[in-house]
Amino acid sequence: MNIQQVDYNGLIPNNVGLSTDVRVKRALEKWHPGYINWWHDMGPEGFQESLVYLRTAVSVDPKGWAVFDYVRMPEYRWGILLAPAAEGRTIPFGAHKGEPAWQEVPGEYRAMLRRLIVIQGDTEPASVEQQRHLGKTAPSLYDMRNLFQVNVEEGRHLWAMVYLLHKYFGADGRDEAEGLLQRRSGDVDTPRMLGAFNEKTPDWLSFFMFTFFVDRDGKMQLEAQAQSGFDPLSRTCRFMLTEEAHHMFVGETGIGRTVQRTCEAMVQAGIDDPYNIDAIRKLGVIDLPTIQKKLNLHYSLALDLFGSEVSTNAANAFNSGLKGRFQEHRLQDDHQLQSDVYPVLKLINGDIKRVDEPALTALNMRLRDDYTNDCSKGVARWNKIIEATGIKFQLGLPHVAFRRNIGEFRDIEASPTGELLDTAAWQKRKDEWVPSQADGDFITGLMQPVVEPGKFASWIAPPKVGIDNKPGDFEYVKIA
Ligand SMILES: [Fe+2]
Ligand SMILES: [Fe+2]
Repeated sequence: MNIQQVDYNGLIPNNVGLSTDVRVKRALEKWHPGYINWWHDMGPEGFQESLVYLRTAVSVDPKGWAVFDYVRMPEYRWGILLAPAAEGRTIPFGAHKGEPAWQEVPGEYRAMLRRLIVIQGDTEPASVEQQRHLGKTAPSLYDMRNLFQVNVEEGRHLWAMVYLLHKYFGADGRDEAEGLLQRRSGDVDTPRMLGAFNEKTPDWLSFFMFTFFVDRDGKMQLEAQAQSGFDPLSRTCRFMLTEEAHHMFVGETGIGRTVQRTCEAMVQAGIDDPYNIDAIRKLGVIDLPTIQKKLNLHYSLALDLFGSEVSTNAANAFNSGLKGRFQEHRLQDDHQLQSDVYPVLKLINGDIKRVDEPALTALNMRLRDDYTNDCSKGVARWNKIIEATGIKFQLGLPHVAFRRNIGEFRDIEASPTGELLDTAAWQKRKDEWVPSQADGDFITGLMQPVVEPGKFASWIAPPKVGIDNKPGDFEYVKIA
């Protein structure tokens, strides 16, 4: 079978030879109805019958992997797609560096590998659950379509992880695959596994922030797992990254268009003070300081996803060859890190200081630094948009000690500039730094749906180009 082409004949599109793998095919066909039920219960609310102009992966050829067409979401062809195998691939890092990549689960690392896959898998349906109400307040059909595209692809990513569980982990893999359909974002009894995935995504600015910051954490995790010595995981993650790029595009351009619209409205009204919040809000746009607060909130939530700065779990995952570093192949070292150090920000006697830690245990910190770097490029592009309008305001990432629940800074309070605060001072000032109830109410009030093709809500600028080069008034969703 040609790996580039996907077999669309069966119930589950795939390029993993499912038609001849009877055991796994049966297991997945058994899991399928539960997935469809979950999609109906927890997928986009109110639009299950609508025709959505979606891309579907039909190949893993980087030059032409997707087709665009109208689809009802429950009929989307969620498939199992692995990037092509690299001939003679070896394990790129850790204690097994240079050995042939594993095609089967290495027995000694079975539990660790399963846990990595389950945690990754759990985030995928969680975000669909978090975003399920947003279709009803979409600022345009273009944005609504992008939301649904992200949602169906997160659904496919769940399939990707469930395939690995069924194929390589026997009975306990089957149980874990069931568990992925049982947990619910924000549920008190059966929450999703990671904090940021139990938060609400109450409005579209939150959605854009989520896709910019939290999907980007996803990108970093996928990058690290794409390096994995367990070849099926590597190949799965490599293809997921192709889709993930669009999710980050949605976030970055969504915030960029919001910022642009705010600045344009300010210029038009002759308001040059970005802190003249009441006057700016009257224009039907979101003031820049409130956008900064949302950014503070989502960035700090996303940083927690990287785990503790110093972590023996991270060291073990690297040492065993399961989870590498961002762009491992580009790094100029021995890829084993037995005697290297890495600088980590720590809280020492009430001061935030940089301390060298063994590089192996500092891998979470390192991945987080790579992430911050990636985020700051997007922030710089938003600032260019503001600058071009002549408004004097800069967005920025808050300090890593700000509003943390995991790692070095979980027990302290700090301002966005990294100034340590006592609880009273934090309580007094926190509404300056994260959205207050009143900010949330204002944004919620703005979230009026716009469903006329080519029209956009007051608070967001139209995109520069359409999806699949469609014209501005294209009907991306035919609402049923
Ligand atoms: Fe995903
Ligand atoms: Fe994503």
